[in-house]
Amino acid sequence: MGNQLPIGIFDSGIGGLSLLREVQAKLPSEHLIYIADTAYAPYGDKTAEVIEARAFALTQYLIEQGAKVILVACNTATVNVINLLRVEFPNIPFVGIEPAVKPAILDKNTKVVTVWATAKTATSQRLKDLVDTHYCPQTKVHIQACHGLASEIEKGDIASISLEQLVTEYLNELVVTGTDTLVLACTHYPFVLPVIEAIWPTLSQQSLTVIEPAGAVVKHLKHILNDKTLLNSDEFEGETCYLTTGVAGALKQSILSLFNKNVSVDKIEV
Ligand code: DGL
Repeated sequence: MGNQLPIGIFDSGIGGLSLLREVQAKLPSEHLIYIADTAYAPYGDKTAEVIEARAFALTQYLIEQGAKVILVACNTATVNVINLLRVEFPNIPFVGIEPAVKPAILDKNTKVVTVWATAKTATSQRLKDLVDTHYCPQTKVHIQACHGLASEIEKGDIASISLEQLVTEYLNELVVTGTDTLVLACTHYPFVLPVIEAIWPTLSQQSLTVIEPAGAVVKHLKHILNDKTLLNSDEFEGETCYLTTGVAGALKQSILSLFNKNVSVDKIEV
């Protein structure tokens, strides 16, 4: 039965795990295959051609493993290549994750929004279009390319001094611009939410709303699966298979330190 097949998920590295944990929480019966494309991380500094080639290869692999839907758990890949994926693989549904500019601007209390993203998302036409579409004269939108942040998070040590310094540097920019709403437009960034929450009050008295759209994306994924009668309604918990194009032990260690879960990880050549 099609609904028993796995959901294929990929990101450049551990970032997509912030979406995967939401899928596991909201759709516990689903079987999942997660690929961390660590050998090619970070995507944010790559050309559109490289990101496209990686997204095509990983999608092809996931389809060969029987995936019923592909969750592109990466803003950089979504904004740059998801439309090309839909053309190249018309028989499989794709769900992506985009910068949550719309809910940030629609909130009437918002005056200044800053979007944190990788360089390749920050300069994308798709992000520009999102900002233009939801333009509101009362709300200023700043786009900040957070160079090095995804790579620092990818090291898996959320408590490191170098990560704290980098987050502080980017938070200082929010103080300068008077930002009240921060959009995390990279799936790696939700892992530094505790760091943001610890540092922000030491820099500013103003409250800061942080938006990351994992919940909305998984709601949409559920809707797509339901619509295509692909939702797995088994009563037992689904299995998750963790794969990486990089070093298996490194991903295993990151999952242990981020989620306190001891899982097995396999290396694949894609
Ligand atoms: N986690 C990814 C994103 O959402 C990519 C980060 C990177 O590899 O640069 O954009």
